[in-house]
Amino acid sequence: MTTSSSERGVSLGMPELPAPAYPDDVRARLETDARAIVARYPDSRSALLPMLHLVQAEEGHVTRTGMRFCADMLGLTTAEVTAVATFYTMYRRRPSGDYQVGVCTNTLCAVMGGDAIFEELQEHLGVGNGETTADGKVTLEHIECNAACDYAPVVMVNWEFFDNQTPESAKRMVDDLREGRPVAPTRGAPLCTFKETARILAGFPDEREGAVEATGSAGPASLIGLKLAKGEAAPARVVHPRGEAPQDAPPHEPSPTEHLSSHDAPQDTAASDPAHPSGPAAEEGE
Ligand code: FES
Repeated sequence: MTTSSSERGVSLGMPELPAPAYPDDVRARLETDARAIVARYPDSRSALLPMLHLVQAEEGHVTRTGMRFCADMLGLTTAEVTAVATFYTMYRRRPSGDYQVGVCTNTLCAVMGGDAIFEELQEHLGVGNGETTADGKVTLEHIECNAACDYAPVVMVNWEFFDNQTPESAKRMVDDLREGRPVAPTRGAPLCTFKETARILAGFPDEREGAVEATGSAGPASLIGLKLAKGEAAPARVVHPRGEAPQDAPPHEPSPTEHLSSHDAPQDTAASDPAHPSGPAAEEGE
């Protein structure tokens, strides 16, 4: 059973104040946008995630007013909306900076320099994880792997990629953001503010110049595996852990049936293991 936020507050002995309303003109504008979002789905409650991005685009984070608005528009309880808004880390629950600078500190990025970048940015900006600079420009945070490991270490600003970063390049980039100098991601669409990003994530077109053309495709580092599999690139030289391969070893010539990926190679099965032959399991007592 679901309980509303006010029910939950009463049960804890803390009656919750009603969420303040949006000003009339803001509410009217948001209602128009909300109706456009809801119209995309056969069931209105499916519109909750983009609706949360919509209210985040209004205030820079998801407020109680925004959650109340989503609940009203979608016929949900505020508890249901809160449960979703607090589950996903893409929704902020408190005011933050114009630029969310996320340093990937998952394993690969961490060992490739992500940990050092995060440490140096903390010191350079004078803020810790999840904190915002006093000028309200930059919020620094750890982020998880964004499937860009081939460009490690990766920093993301408002979900745009900054590949192959160093502590120096990352510090230069945040300085430029704070000073209002132009900053371009390594690939993808041009950078915009967190509120603008939230509106795009709500599903409204990005009408900035160059945004559509910038969608592009995967870069060379991401495509190398595909090229290897197709035989369009030479496999990397194998370096033996204790030195070079014996000089008298004949050069390796892959046969036409040889596979480049171990995942594609024929695997041993139970049928080839005399101790565990394949076939129907013996009945108990046989
Ligand atoms: S570990 Fe950083 S993008 Fe995958």
